[in-house]
Amino acid sequence: MPSIVIVGTQWGDEGKGKIVDYLSERSDFIVRSQGGSNAGHTIVVDNVSYKLRLLPSGILYKDKICVIGNGVVINPKVFLEEIKGMNDKGIDTSNLRISSRAHILFPYHILLDEYQEKMLGDNKIGTTKNGIGPCYMDKMSRMGIRVQDLIDDEMFQKKLKVNVETKNVLIERVYNESPLDYNDILNEYREYALKLKPYTVDTAYLINDALDNGKKVLFEGAQATMLDIDHGTYPFVTSSNPTAAGACTGTGVGPLKIDNIIGVVKAYATRVGEGPFPTELDNEIGEYIRERAQEYGTVTGRIRRCGWLDLSVVKYAGYINSLKYLAITRLDILDTLDTIKLCVGYKHNDALLKEYPANLEMLKNVTPIYEEFEGWKTDISEIRNYDELPKNAKVYLKRIEEVTNVSVGIVSVGAAREATITCATDLF
Ligand code: GDP
Ligand code: IMO
Ligand code: MG
Repeated sequence: MPSIVIVGTQWGDEGKGKIVDYLSERSDFIVRSQGGSNAGHTIVVDNVSYKLRLLPSGILYKDKICVIGNGVVINPKVFLEEIKGMNDKGIDTSNLRISSRAHILFPYHILLDEYQEKMLGDNKIGTTKNGIGPCYMDKMSRMGIRVQDLIDDEMFQKKLKVNVETKNVLIERVYNESPLDYNDILNEYREYALKLKPYTVDTAYLINDALDNGKKVLFEGAQATMLDIDHGTYPFVTSSNPTAAGACTGTGVGPLKIDNIIGVVKAYATRVGEGPFPTELDNEIGEYIRERAQEYGTVTGRIRRCGWLDLSVVKYAGYINSLKYLAITRLDILDTLDTIKLCVGYKHNDALLKEYPANLEMLKNVTPIYEEFEGWKTDISEIRNYDELPKNAKVYLKRIEEVTNVSVGIVSVGAAREATITCATDLF
């Protein structure tokens, strides 16, 4: 199995970083394909916690090649700060490559993100205000500036000029705010260009050649299925395709080269920002889970809304991503609960829904169908073997498999790399 895609099945923060770091040991290449610094992936190794936003979660392994693919939007300031942070911790980042076709994020993207959210008022999306939407808007409207354009100074000047001029019209006339200075951005980004250039290649060739030569490639998803611009709870989504197909478009690798797809599922559910969340626990149980699990956003520090695991969502993610396995994370967080609820479907006006609703008004008004499970009331954080898990934990996992029709391939019982149980032999 030379290639594997890791995707989030819920609303992000499922523990993708932890699973990617765990599987990186068996990989030669670890590749990010979409999103940008809106992502926050936490990895814990030898009691040290690493928070990654743009760098792939394989970065801690010295001998692996980490790639930022064409589908990612790169804020060079965040990127260079992250590299510095890693180097300061003694982590070598010389094996990092970025795609010449990836788009660059500029200060006007961040401002426009903020202004749009402000203008939307009560209808805001609750973005991370990292400028992600406006940067992808420029990409799609063919106004964007790619890494390739940034490192070609003549091209860069031309493209930046047009962009600053048009953005300033928007900023001044629509949002009533102060214009940006072309020269300030030019000077700042020229410095970045020099620093980014050594990392730059056409990564589609790099990855395809690696796969053709039998190397093992892991594609790391950011965000998640329900935040997908096409398949998520639109408009409360991000501006890219975090679903499995995004790994192909975002790196230049065809679907036939993907061998395995794993969906990461948090053992309960969380959501940051606005948007429907049918199993949300706006009560003391939700509060308890939040505090026990420290569910606060890595990028923005916002509270993560907490709720019961929603299998309507995971089942849907199974279809959309062609999931072969599930990686269940944070099961240990449920250790102390007397009773655990699992949503196995939705009802709307007393009718059972067969499909995940595209109609957001309907989604806001669905009634989750819950099954109740007895808690295991045992500390499972030291368990490393599936058979040793308490009976009630296995019952819970079995039911997840039954409802989603996808097998559990990995169970994570702690943030640390070693707190992982592998239950499938053909993962990667
Ligand atoms: P990502 O965005 O999907 O990579 O997830 P985040 O890193 O934003 O959030 C997941 C959080 O859960 C991080 O703080 C991880 O260190 C932590 N984590 C991951 N797996 C486990 C687990 O099995 N148990 C516990 N207790 N923490 C975990
Ligand atoms: P990781 O990779 C959780 C959410 C934001 C907001 C919506 C749009 O750590 O799982 P954006 O800034 O992308 O325009 O915001 O998407 N969001 C995430 N939520 N985890 C993430 O990434 C997220 N990236 C974006 O909170 O609701
Ligand atoms: Mg995260």
